Amino acid sequence: MSYLIAVSGKGGVGKTTLSGLIVARLIARNCTPVLAVDADPNMCLDSVLGVTVTSTIGAIREEAKVFAAKGMSAGVSKQDWMEFKIAECLVEANDFDLIAMGRSEGAGCYCYANNVLKNAIEKVSKVYPYIVLDNEAGLENLSRRIVQSVDLLVMVADPSSRGLQTVVRLHQMTGEMNIKYGKLAIIVNRLRRDELPERMEEIREITKADFVIGMPDCSELAEIAEKGGNIMNVSEDNKIVKLVDDLLEQAGLPGRKPA
Ligand SMILES: Nc1ncnc2c1ncn2[C@@H]1O[C@H](COP(=O)(O)OP(=O)(O)O)[C@@H](O)[C@H]1O
Ligand SMILES: [Mg+2]
Repeated sequence: MSYLIAVSGKGGVGKTTLSGLIVARLIARNCTPVLAVDADPNMCLDSVLGVTVTSTIGAIREEAKVFAAKGMSAGVSKQDWMEFKIAECLVEANDFDLIAMGRSEGAGCYCYANNVLKNAIEKVSKVYPYIVLDNEAGLENLSRRIVQSVDLLVMVADPSSRGLQTVVRLHQMTGEMNIKYGKLAIIVNRLRRDELPERMEEIREITKADFVIGMPDCSELAEIAEKGGNIMNVSEDNKIVKLVDDLLEQAGLPGRKPA
């Protein structure tokens, strides 16, 4: 079974940036190959990781919906077809592959397409010991598309009072949606002061988070984003890189924490 890290939180808080950094730091500690999954229809993880997606799971789902209605040509099993198509969507890079979920469902019934897809994704992803899932805001992807439970759930928030309230709400939703996870990390991102907001202790207690980490507002990350650059190029001594290394270490991932 792969080790699954899922990153969630509301829009614009730094989920994609942190997902990209987690992929980079898994590679740095030889936890490879990594499958990076972009589950946000506004796909950005590819450019953050310096690769380009050409085809998405969403497009396959539309095709599968058509053949669910019409049937397929003789001799091709639906599962085989699906696996072939998914392999076509995989973007291969050094030490990681990336796949994008693409646009969400349109009108009509996708139950059949989603079920075949779920099985095929499960099979394809089995070959990766580590999977990093960059989510859209909300937790729908986790409840509907992911078969296995999440090993490390990372909730990202901005330090505002509303931002922190979102974390409490997201935590509540995991219960309501029956999303299972091993460890929970809360990241309060883009801190302007070198300390966590006062409410964090209370939030730690409510959510029973295993890790509560503050990450600074970082000019290097902002600059990389401004230039559309690759997050793999962030410097090793960046404070956020070190904090991500610490998180992976404390979560008990194998491999040695880079010096
Ligand atoms: N710690 C940080 N310091 C500075 N800029 C950041 C930081 N985290 C994220 N950003 C920037 O904030 C913007 C939104 O981040 P992004 O990762 O795309 O958010 P999300 O995926 O949650 O929508 C990007 O321009 C990103 O570079
Ligand atoms: Mg994003």
